[in-house]
Amino acid sequence: MVARPPVRLVIDRMTHADLAAVQAIEKASFTTPWPSYAYRNELETNRLAHYLVVRAAGAVVAYAGIWLMVDEAHVTTFAVTPAWRRHHVGERLLLALLDLSIARGAREATLEVRLSNLGARRLYEKFGFRPVGIRPRYYSDDHEDALIMTTEPLEAPAMAALLARRRAELAAIPDPEAPG
Ligand SMILES: CC(C)(COP(=O)(O)OP(=O)(O)OC[C@H]1O[C@@H](n2cnc3c(N)ncnc32)[C@H](O)[C@@H]1OP(=O)(O)O)[C@@H](O)C(=O)NCCC(=O)NCCS
Repeated sequence: MVARPPVRLVIDRMTHADLAAVQAIEKASFTTPWPSYAYRNELETNRLAHYLVVRAAGAVVAYAGIWLMVDEAHVTTFAVTPAWRRHHVGERLLLALLDLSIARGAREATLEVRLSNLGARRLYEKFGFRPVGIRPRYYSDDHEDALIMTTEPLEAPAMAALLARRRAELAAIPDPEAPG
């Protein structure tokens, strides 16, 4: 088998030009995807919203967003395209989201995740999110409960040390090959 060349991953602000690719990943990732106009509205009208994408060789392979509300960063969405999962793309994106939150003055980050979504929960735990409560029957399609996960204060020394550790680990991982 011939090795594929490594691909540099670039994290960028989401723009209107990304919306079709984002919608395709959204449909592949969620049982009740946001409608196509939702991300457009977020970019155009929601001043609290900040959305990032990960590009591999120019193509969008992941995206995520936060709402920055006073001193809290609320993760609104997070997805990696199926072919690129388990290549540390989610980790790189979550670190970028937390960096952005800290730079904009957030003191903690919070999110909801399906109780059954153990992969996502594990990703969030690796970045200091801890379960703090349940929103019963939160998801409209099957009424699954949501687990609420929140970080320690982002400026706490333990959290800063954790992020520094994760940053160093990610920096040591070579650029991935494009999945085949
Ligand atoms: C959850 C999701 C974002 C993870 O993205 P990813 O790029 O595959 O994650 P990473 O490769 O960075 O994985 C980081 C860590 O998370 C955990 N993890 C991620 N996916 C996992 C899975 N399917 N099973 C178990 N652990 C998983 C692992 O601990 C992993 O570290 P490791 O590979 O060293 O064991 C991705 O699977 C996805 O988009 N899922 C569909 C949408 C979704 O559920 N979004 C979250 C909504 S709250």
